[in-house]
Amino acid sequence: TANREKYRPTYHFSPLYGWMNDPNGMVYKDGEYHLFYQYNPYGSQWGNLSWGHAITKDLVNWKHLPVAIAPDALGTIFSGSAVVDYDNTAGFGAGAIVAIYTQSSDRQVQSIAYSTDNGRSFTKYENNPVLVSEVCDFRDPKVFWHAETHRWIMVLAVGQEMQIFSSPNLKDWTFESRFGEGQGAHGGVWECPDLFELPVEGTNDKKWVLLCNLNPGGPFGGSATQYFVGSFNGKEFVNESPSKTKWMDWGKDHYATVTWSDAPDNRRIAIAWMSNWQYANDVPTSQYRSPNSVPRDLSLFAADGEIYLKSAPSPELLKLRDISKKRSFKVSGTRTVKEMIPGNEGAYEIELTIKNQHADIIGFRLYNDKGEEVDMQYDMKENKFSMDRRKSGDVSFNENFPTLTWTAIESGRNELKLRLFVDKSSVEAFGDGGRFAMTNQVFPLEPYCHIGFYSKGGSYKVDSFVVYRLKP
Ligand code: FRU
Repeated sequence: TANREKYRPTYHFSPLYGWMNDPNGMVYKDGEYHLFYQYNPYGSQWGNLSWGHAITKDLVNWKHLPVAIAPDALGTIFSGSAVVDYDNTAGFGAGAIVAIYTQSSDRQVQSIAYSTDNGRSFTKYENNPVLVSEVCDFRDPKVFWHAETHRWIMVLAVGQEMQIFSSPNLKDWTFESRFGEGQGAHGGVWECPDLFELPVEGTNDKKWVLLCNLNPGGPFGGSATQYFVGSFNGKEFVNESPSKTKWMDWGKDHYATVTWSDAPDNRRIAIAWMSNWQYANDVPTSQYRSPNSVPRDLSLFAADGEIYLKSAPSPELLKLRDISKKRSFKVSGTRTVKEMIPGNEGAYEIELTIKNQHADIIGFRLYNDKGEEVDMQYDMKENKFSMDRRKSGDVSFNENFPTLTWTAIESGRNELKLRLFVDKSSVEAFGDGGRFAMTNQVFPLEPYCHIGFYSKGGSYKVDSFVVYRLKP
């Protein structure tokens, strides 16, 4: 019923029925972006892991397809990636989509399966598994073609490190190197790697980025995505700032982030699972659990002698914009906008440009008539942006859910730009074109239809406040 489905997002991907965790096998071919995902077709809690499947031509309209890869005698189907084998290196046919995934039983092994009909059906390789070990956490292969050395590279999460393997044919794998000791955060096991090259904005430089999902040990507890920036020569990844931990998203619900292979126009597009292992099995939905983040285009930028990853909402999201309302005003004390947008059913985007006029706190809260709210603040003294969901609605299902998340922002800022994507049960904030991202789930009784701006210790000008209703 409508009520039971009240938390289901309208423009984020969610499974029709059942449990979902990590995005898997993301690959683009012949005009279609494939999304596979960790899926339990038989229930809305983790278990019976298979690869669910969906495709999209535009990153915002999704088509559900049947389960692509189901468990067999080697185990359930854990996370992994997919490639298009244009040169037929594996002998499954030129242009076959080859999935490389972990199978989990009393041990974890890597297997492959191929599709010669653009992912509509998969055949498992008869000599699976293709890579085994005695180590218990040995999973989540990310495979890509390394043109310079003319071979396939696999990055694998092994305990608290990443291991790199190479192969001429996707079947025979050779160990190359390991990465991890003394690098970044180690509060938990490393999972779901990704490795790709990106240009650094405003330079002719290119750098390699290693995505490293971590559980637990995230900045606010539980799971989160860290990354490393450096070089890769086909054998070894070298982190150029070993003493620094970099987080990709500063909310609590952004995990298992990986990117599409072979995306057009050299784009590097990421998607995350919008939950956290601390409470993923407990969130108050029953028909499905849980959705993905909006797609994000990744790029690199330099600040204070460091290179950071920028996550900007993918431009296709602009297609969702329906009616909009634009306002501008000064905030000195409080200023309430009762009706953000007519017909607000909880799926909207807010675009804000704020000019500070010596305020210490630039705040705004999304709220409903049930006394529930998500409070966001720029603290201009502490140079922080924060999002507080402690009174956002149902927070009682797990003690780790009610949280305030925050991130540092550059000091001395005069102009602040923020985009917020709200979709029934989530709020994703993107500051300064994606220089920071913050993703949090919320479970309000009814949509947040109002916004209340407030200032402390001075005033500020809302140069532009635009609300767009977003189409499903
Ligand atoms: C990450 C993860 C992966 C594993 C999968 C199992 O969320 O733990 O390491 O392959 O989920 O569902």
